[in-house]
Amino acid sequence: MSLVYRPARANDLAAADALVVASINELTIRHGFGPMASASPPSFQLFSLEDDPDGLWVAEDSRAMLGFAWSWVCGDVWFLAQLFVDPARQGEGIGNELLERTMEHARKSGAAHKALITFTFNRVSQGLYMRHGLFPRMPVYLFNAARDRVAQALPEPRLRAAAIDDSAATMEKLAAIDSSAIGISREKHHRHLLNDAAVGGVLLHAGSECVGYAYISASGHIGPLAVTRSGILRDAFSTALRLAADSSVEKISAFLPGTCDSVLSLAVKQGMRISFPMLLIASPGYGGWTQYLPRNPGFM
Ligand SMILES: CC(C)(COP(=O)(O)OP(=O)(O)OC[C@H]1O[C@@H](n2cnc3c(N)ncnc32)[C@H](O)[C@@H]1OP(=O)(O)O)[C@@H](O)C(=O)NCCC(=O)NCCS
Repeated sequence: MSLVYRPARANDLAAADALVVASINELTIRHGFGPMASASPPSFQLFSLEDDPDGLWVAEDSRAMLGFAWSWVCGDVWFLAQLFVDPARQGEGIGNELLERTMEHARKSGAAHKALITFTFNRVSQGLYMRHGLFPRMPVYLFNAARDRVAQALPEPRLRAAAIDDSAATMEKLAAIDSSAIGISREKHHRHLLNDAAVGGVLLHAGSECVGYAYISASGHIGPLAVTRSGILRDAFSTALRLAADSSVEKISAFLPGTCDSVLSLAVKQGMRISFPMLLIASPGYGGWTQYLPRNPGFM
């Protein structure tokens, strides 16, 4: 059977995750970084498929899945969460064909902005995205450190944290914070995170004013985190670090944009190390966040 490109189905998503993990680790090991990814239940993929199936595509032949692409749309932003091809079949045009189909998703949805996060050390993906009108905007670094190290001389939190609930009032606050930080409301994605038992979210307050939110996962990962003004980002990150440091996690990690000087300085001061250099790639005019720390390259 020749190569087929078709919309993904729910029962493809476990195999797609296995392909993505293998493709990421082949790339990161080949570039001397060691393995980066491990298998996880494809719950956000399933959420996106049920929300808007136009963004998920599979390439396959009679024997196996050879590639997977997944994009989601929120407001007027289209985001490419994953584009991966089986390492044994890269360089044959499969990635380009899958990208064409997800870009059609962007066109159909009328998105004004397109973005994705890729590996700084992957020349192929960057060149392919440039071919499609998407250009490097800013570095995004995955930082991590042992919890004990981060806790040393960590500033006392300046913001008050209160658990995120699913009330209309909370959703309104989250929408306002996101609109200010990234230009769109992501209410549907907050509702998805609220249903994820492995992640906890807090609203952050300065006095009585709600100035941001942060999510911290059971593994010690911080993000997404967003604030209503850039001047408060460091306080928000330091409060999230304190919440993570007060838990029983082994390691603390976060994706920090290269445009967020104050949190980069704090991360380095608390002994955090860059483990993977990534890159935000976007359509002209989008990116350059100063009020937002993404969760990961799939969620944004
Ligand atoms: C990135 C990836 C999806 C691309 O899929 P692919 O099937 O290998 O790519 P294609 O064969 O369709 O297209 C390759 C294109 O990349 C571009 N390219 C390749 N090497 C390049 C380089 N050194 N400089 C600039 N552009 C380059 C060219 O446009 C090339 O097309 P051409 O050979 O026709 O000129 C795939 O290689 C992959 O899975 N890589 C590992 C994981 C990854 O980084 N995924 C992206 C995560 S966001």
